[in-house]
Amino acid sequence: MQVLSVASECAPLVKTGGLADVTGALPGALKGAGVRMRTLLPGYAAVMPALQDPVAVAHLDDLFGGPATLFEAHSHGLDLLVIDAPHLYGRSGNPYAGPDGRDWPDNPERFAALSWVGAHVAAHGVGGWRPQVLHGHDWQAGFMTEYLRGFGAGDVRTVLTIHNIAFTGATDRSRIDALRLDPWRFHPEGYEFYGAVSPLKAGLMGADALTTVSPSYAEELMTPEFGMGLDGVMRHRQGALTGILNGIDDAMWNPATDPAIIRYDDPADKRHAKAALQAQLGLPQAAGPLCVIVSRMTHQKGLDLVLQTLPDLLAQGGQLAVLGSGDPGLEEAFRQAAQDPNVAVRIGYDEAFSHRLIAGGDAILVPSRFEPCGLTQMYGLRYGTVPVVALTGGLADTVIPASPAALSQGVATGIQFAPVTAGALRSALARLGTLYRDPDTWSRLQRNAMAQPVGWSRSARAYADLYENLTHRG
Ligand code: ADP
Ligand code: GLC
Repeated sequence: MQVLSVASECAPLVKTGGLADVTGALPGALKGAGVRMRTLLPGYAAVMPALQDPVAVAHLDDLFGGPATLFEAHSHGLDLLVIDAPHLYGRSGNPYAGPDGRDWPDNPERFAALSWVGAHVAAHGVGGWRPQVLHGHDWQAGFMTEYLRGFGAGDVRTVLTIHNIAFTGATDRSRIDALRLDPWRFHPEGYEFYGAVSPLKAGLMGADALTTVSPSYAEELMTPEFGMGLDGVMRHRQGALTGILNGIDDAMWNPATDPAIIRYDDPADKRHAKAALQAQLGLPQAAGPLCVIVSRMTHQKGLDLVLQTLPDLLAQGGQLAVLGSGDPGLEEAFRQAAQDPNVAVRIGYDEAFSHRLIAGGDAILVPSRFEPCGLTQMYGLRYGTVPVVALTGGLADTVIPASPAALSQGVATGIQFAPVTAGALRSALARLGTLYRDPDTWSRLQRNAMAQPVGWSRSARAYADLYENLTHRG
């Protein structure tokens, strides 16, 4: 099975969030299931120098306003096709925004170009290779179905994965020509969405199959509360939608081999990692649990609720250590909170430090208002760092709450709270303290957590089956 993944980010080459972890891990996970997945990626300034043995396989005189070369290359075990188009991607900053944090004004064209090249490769092949399935991720790949339709390549099957429906990439209809779209398809069955041009809507309407990154989020997407205005579209496409839970890279996230931490494979030895973290952060020894957070600081992640409940956590002898960046107001509020000797905050992005936090914490807090899947709660499980999560999306699907029944049956792995309010989080933190102060129960919880399967094998099989079903459907 030959699949082309179309992605705006891919770890470890370029990452702003979990999307990159998933697009970076899936190709390797699919190898065992008989799928060759190649990844089409924009040639950002940080990506081009990281390519091994790049070979030019196609040249385009005009890719949305300038010349482009398509390279085949490898990097970190990934089999890549990279679009070198300096007028679109040769800039500093992250994939979506400049160093000032503002989105690039030509993002619609930049990612339309990505989708266009994906569709072109699927329709015409490149270097003698052609995929059977075109698998795009999020709005950045949404227009691939429109372009494929224009190329008349009806034999290629398409999959669009929704990692976060909150981002639609919508833009003004005055851009229809610039985006090389068929103006006749500016209607509700096509790419029109409330009078705007929406790449996500285009992909949601046009793809043969839709997936999202957890079964619960698949259900939620069909409701007004979570569908962000696209819930009607999702209900319309319900028959094409499946939720396939993300995995984590369990080689990179393994407390027994992790080079960034004091290693352990038994929760009893985790205290060394905790002591090292406390020492590094200047936190004293404390009677309560050390809670950690590794997160983008946005409204989605519910971190304002942590600030509201912090006095309660501290009052029970707990501690908090945070790594993240994003919303300037939240960054500042956490900086202020760090004046307490039992709170440590680092604003920034730091992979190695994220491993030390997750290894050294007793609990990891993920109080998201919505969470398509979420990866850090799964890192927590793997490291015996008990997840305290909101009952939503993938958080609901990956954590088994420590009810008395689940505890007695030995299946509980964490704490869930609902609704996503400060009051409910406060109760969850009180429950955390109670469990933490009971060493037998606590170590059982940790062992259960560490025994959970959080790798990719089952979900890779699910994607492989989806590709098989699509291509056999004819
Ligand atoms: P999202 O994609 O919505 O941000 P996920 O939980 O799916 O949420 O993925 C976030 C990924 O980014 C995880 O791999 C997490 O460890 C990582 N991450 C987030 N913030 C930071 C940070 N400040 N430093 C290091 N890694 C981070
Ligand atoms: C998005 C979601 C997150 C998910 C990630 C990878 O960034 O916010 O929940 O884990 O994509 O699928």
